[in-house]
Amino acid sequence: MKNRGFNKIKSILVCMLCMLMWSGCNASPGGEHINTTADERKIVVGFSQVGAESDWRNANTESMKNALSSANGYALIYEDGQQKQANQIRAIRTFIQQEVDYIVLAPVTENGWDTVLQEAKDAGIPVIIVDRMVNVSDDALFTCRVGSDFELEAKKVAEWLNCYMELQGISPKEVHIVNIQGTLGATSQIGRTKGLEDAAKAYDWDLLAEVPGDYTQAKSREVMEGLLKQFANINVVYCENDNEAFGAIEAIEAAGKTVGSDIKNGEIMVVSFDGVNEKAVQYVTEGKITCIAECNPLHGPRVQALIEALEAGETPEKFSYVDEQFFSAYRDISELKVDGTVYPVTFPQTEEGTECIPEETE
Ligand code: AHR
Repeated sequence: MKNRGFNKIKSILVCMLCMLMWSGCNASPGGEHINTTADERKIVVGFSQVGAESDWRNANTESMKNALSSANGYALIYEDGQQKQANQIRAIRTFIQQEVDYIVLAPVTENGWDTVLQEAKDAGIPVIIVDRMVNVSDDALFTCRVGSDFELEAKKVAEWLNCYMELQGISPKEVHIVNIQGTLGATSQIGRTKGLEDAAKAYDWDLLAEVPGDYTQAKSREVMEGLLKQFANINVVYCENDNEAFGAIEAIEAAGKTVGSDIKNGEIMVVSFDGVNEKAVQYVTEGKITCIAECNPLHGPRVQALIEALEAGETPEKFSYVDEQFFSAYRDISELKVDGTVYPVTFPQTEEGTECIPEETE
């Protein structure tokens, strides 16, 4: 770890110099505003976020900003990576130049972080990975990671589909699935795709195609339009997040088809991940989305707790995973057994206008 006492003295000196020179010292090298006078006793955190591709991401950004707020004793430097790793690497290098106390990284994809994380380590700045993971040669390049078990989420969806097909007497060969994937190379995409592929193999489902939808509604709609033209027998659409589900539903309805779980009578079933956005949960109650494995975005308080532990000289767990629910309106499946653990199915009662963002939990 770097010498924070020295840095504080240095920042006070820099601040005095800047005050003498003029108030133009308020812009940091990255263009973000840091008020050194007000923030000199605050914990400075540089947060490199993926972007704003989904409702999940926006809820995640809000949670981080709320937790690492000035009122909580933080000076947060927020950088939107706009889905590009190069932007995120540039942001981290700027945070290093700014001598922040902590770097929080929500990486867009897993690979390619070794060099810049080594630079942060050499500068003595602890790095907390949030949401997706980094694939690095040495885990000592980051301090800890908090996020979801994406493969477990996928296993829940696959198990739900398996139970449903069995209860409906639908043979595996009659299950014709397309997968609209997330951002290729992101941990959430890798885990969710793997969970589906493993299940398709194990249960002998017909996995027709897997196409990236980049976690966005617009791309997913475009992808689904193409898939409907290519395959006449699609009856399950596995969307790797809710925004993709919205896009797929738009395309299915525009093609004059009906979304729903009655696939024996020609409906196309849409299953998804996240459960953050009110509309998605409403769609579950209406049967437009048949089930959703929750992906909890509220990592702000968790990151705050990790920083507090580090500030207290403690060594937090290297990896922490969040508990997540599973939503469906189909009441004949009330629990799912995955890898020997039983998970309850939540039947959402959401009325229009009701918030369904998960509780803040540690
Ligand atoms: O990595 C988490 C995923 O990223 C969420 O499921 C998705 O909505 C987001 O864009």
